[in-house]
Amino acid sequence: MSEAAKPENERRKFRAIKGTRDILPPDSALWNWFEKTARGVMEAYNFGEIRTPIFEETELFARSIGGETDVVSKEMYTFADHSLSHLEWMRNTILVRRSSHDDPIDVNILIQLVDSFVSHAEAATSEGEMPKTSDNARALDRLRALSDRTATFLVPQTAAMGKEEFELYANQIRAAVGALKFGDLITLRPEATASVVRAYIEHGMHTRPGDQKLYYIGPMFRRERPQKGRYRQFYQIGAEVLGTSDAPAIDAELIQMLTDLLERCQIEKYTLLINSIGCPDTPERKGCRPKYVELLRAKLREPEIFSKLGADSQRRVETNPLRVMDSKLPEEQAIIEKLPKISEHLCADCREHYEKLKKELKLREVPFTESPRLVRGLDYYMRTTFEITSPILGAQNALCGGGRYDGLVEMLGGPKGIKGIGFALGEDRLIDAIQEAKKVHATRTVDVFVAWMGERAYPTAVRLAHVLREEKHTVELPPDEMKFRKALERADKMGARYVLIIGEDEIASDMLTIKRLLDGKQEKISEEALVDFFRPPVLTKEGPGS
Ligand code: HAM
Repeated sequence: MSEAAKPENERRKFRAIKGTRDILPPDSALWNWFEKTARGVMEAYNFGEIRTPIFEETELFARSIGGETDVVSKEMYTFADHSLSHLEWMRNTILVRRSSHDDPIDVNILIQLVDSFVSHAEAATSEGEMPKTSDNARALDRLRALSDRTATFLVPQTAAMGKEEFELYANQIRAAVGALKFGDLITLRPEATASVVRAYIEHGMHTRPGDQKLYYIGPMFRRERPQKGRYRQFYQIGAEVLGTSDAPAIDAELIQMLTDLLERCQIEKYTLLINSIGCPDTPERKGCRPKYVELLRAKLREPEIFSKLGADSQRRVETNPLRVMDSKLPEEQAIIEKLPKISEHLCADCREHYEKLKKELKLREVPFTESPRLVRGLDYYMRTTFEITSPILGAQNALCGGGRYDGLVEMLGGPKGIKGIGFALGEDRLIDAIQEAKKVHATRTVDVFVAWMGERAYPTAVRLAHVLREEKHTVELPPDEMKFRKALERADKMGARYVLIIGEDEIASDMLTIKRLLDGKQEKISEEALVDFFRPPVLTKEGPGS
């Protein structure tokens, strides 16, 4: 039975995928207001918008964010970018097939499958559908040689082959089939800093004058366990500064921009946490962070400390001891408090940078709290790290996070000596915070509802609706004729401010009727006076908070 023929309760209903959601009116008005406000603030600080693709090569994220991080190791949406589903199917069939060397039919099927796979793979390569890499050419050569060889097993020779020798061949075939790459691995961006840095390098933006100050707004994707404030598709507004200077004034100005934005959103309850996580080793000099990490690791390995850590932290003692510092497990808190703090182990340069950052923040009257445990979950950071948390958010209380990443441009193949710093603010959480704070109310209002009655009134209604829309008023024009009372009810439910009434009487008298819904006040005006009537102050667009 077709879906349409089934009763409604049996028809398949589609729902948004777990961890994703729809943002509907009227909520979308607040999102739009916030994005407009954020653009305004960032442009006031001379940041320009950058738009990068939603997906990038997997390797870009793996290298910059770090293979040991939660984001890369378990949360990325990654897939092979190709349309060779028939080859994928054949490959899987070959990989799972266990042929018996003394069964000629079985062997014959394997040979035919491999032959057919090779010719399809060759065709896909020559048509440019499969990457022409040297690895792929090698794997194809090997497969061709093996399938020729396998042909010699054909009945009756197969039975004469030793079982082990045949198994070896079958394994070699599987290895060569498995080694072919049908397409690049690509990933839906889990964050945008890596993409911005990739774009900066790709477009030689270091040759442009001055620091590059860039901002972005858009969706990010992480396969996290969904809960309030944590989604698999979420939105970030972020900013990055890339250039040759690492002056702490850059860090402070970026943070000030962020707190300006929170003030515009009238969010008062938040804490700005700052820290310095030192510097990594470079070919020129030893960094203070690796030394501190070793000290921390040695401390964490001490049996009386190690035994009190949870499984995740125990694993991190070897993979990334810094991350033990931002564990949220209540039973680990007392131990963590007593661990050596990175702020006490900074080299002279990092200490000076951090002291100057604090001075710069004070100069700008940006209140902050030092948090020696703030290490952040992505590998590219060095020196300044910061986070803004809000108590009104509940468990997922980080509104925003950021920090300095001076070595990243070079690590991704860009020019030497380019420094970077940035942040990303979680838009979903910020919208929650705005709604909780209840200070900003953004709504879309219908300015004018056109109530037309009678065929003769319709052309006038269409024309006047257009005239008012050109004046930037929000106008609702019902597609079908409505009885006067029903039109008024509909206008009222929509929250319309005025109803423009065009009926037989209005057409006959060449005068329009305007009704203000707030108090029911009604007046007659000529068509010529219409545009002026709705000019401010009669219809000023209400902004949020008013
Ligand atoms: P992040 O700390 O991973 O940093 O994310 C920044 C913000 O994005 C978080 O503070 C949070 O508000 C929001 N966020 C993260 N994951 C989710 C989620 N699953 N659901 C809802 N909101 C979420 C970065 O992404 C860095 N790229 C920031 C940066 C830019 N550092 C330097 N430049």
